[in-house]
Amino acid sequence: MLFKNLEEIAAYIVDDGKGILAADESNPTCSKRFESIGVASTEEKRRDYREMLFRSDGMRENIGGVILFDETIRQKAADGTPLRDVISNQGALFGIKVDQGVKPIDGCPGETVTVGLDGLDERLREYASMGAKFTKWRAVIKIGSATPSKNCIELNTKALAKYAALVQANGMVPIVEPEVLMEGGHTIDSCYDVSRQVLQALFEHLEDEDVNLKGSLLKPNMVTSGVDCSVQASVDEVAERTLTCLKTYVPAEVPGVCFLSGGQSDVAATAHLDAMNRIGGFSWKLSFSYGRALQSPALSAWGGRADNIRSAQDAFSHRAAMNRLAAFGKWSKELEAD
Ligand code: 13P
Repeated sequence: MLFKNLEEIAAYIVDDGKGILAADESNPTCSKRFESIGVASTEEKRRDYREMLFRSDGMRENIGGVILFDETIRQKAADGTPLRDVISNQGALFGIKVDQGVKPIDGCPGETVTVGLDGLDERLREYASMGAKFTKWRAVIKIGSATPSKNCIELNTKALAKYAALVQANGMVPIVEPEVLMEGGHTIDSCYDVSRQVLQALFEHLEDEDVNLKGSLLKPNMVTSGVDCSVQASVDEVAERTLTCLKTYVPAEVPGVCFLSGGQSDVAATAHLDAMNRIGGFSWKLSFSYGRALQSPALSAWGGRADNIRSAQDAFSHRAAMNRLAAFGKWSKELEAD
C-alpha cells in the first residue's frame, strides 16, 4: 500500500468503520493473560495465539491497523510467513508500541511517567524500514485521593508530544494514548475532571512540538466511573460525558479518536462506542483500539489448543464486527446473540 503522506495513513486506519487491534501486550502482560487460561507463555505460544488472531476472517472488513510488540514484528508464522505480511495480506497496516513502560516520579508517591525517549529515533528508523506505518505510546494517569499531581500530568503529556513529533519526523503516524485508569473508587465526575486536564495539557504540548494533528490518532480512555465506585454510570451517561469532554478539548483536525477499553467488559466497550456514534456531532472518526475487549472471548475459546482455533477466530471476528457496527452507531444488543 502506498501512501502520499501521514494524513492518508491515519485516514486509512479508521476508514469505513474500521478500528485497531491492540495486540502489543508486553511479554509480562501476555503471561498474565495466558495465566488466566492456564497456558504457559512461551515465544511459540504467543506467536500461535497472535497468528490465529491475524488470520481470522473478521480482520479484513473490520480492522485497519494492528499494534504489535517488538517480539511480534520480528516473528514468523508457523509456515514461515512474517506475521507482518499476514497482517498486510488482510488489508491492515501494522504499527509498533515504542514506549518502554513506566518509572516512578521523584516526589510524587504512587505516580509514574512513561519512558522510552532515549534512543527512540534509532528504533523508529528500524521500525519504519520494516514497514511499520504507525506507533503507539501509552501514558498512565492514576486517580487517587491526592492524585494525579500537576507534575505527573505535565511530565506524561510532554513526553507524549515529544514522542509524537519524533515519530512524524520518521514518516509514521503516532497514536497518542493518555490513559486515565479505571482502577479505583472515584466517581465519573472525577474521571471527567482528570481526563479534561490531561487532554488540555496534551494538546498544548502537541502544539508546542508542532505535531501535525491531521497525521496523528488519539487513543483516550472513556469517561467512566471507577471500577470500585458504588454508583456506576449508565451507558448513556458514559457516552454523554465522554463526548462532552472530547468535543471541548480535542481539535477537529484530529482524524480519528480510537478508544482503549481499559478493563471494560467486551460488550460494555461496544455499547459505549455505539451510544457515542448515535449521538454524533463531531468531525473525527470515533472508533476503537481495543486490546482486552477485542481479545477476551477469543482467548478463552482458544485455551492454548490448536483444535479450538476455529471457534476462537469466530469469537474474535464477532467482536471485531460488533465494534465496526458500533463505529457506525448501528450496533444493538440483539446482534450479540446472533
Ligand atoms: P485495552 O483495550 O485492553 O485497555 O488495551 C488497549 C491498549 O493498547 C492499552 O495500551
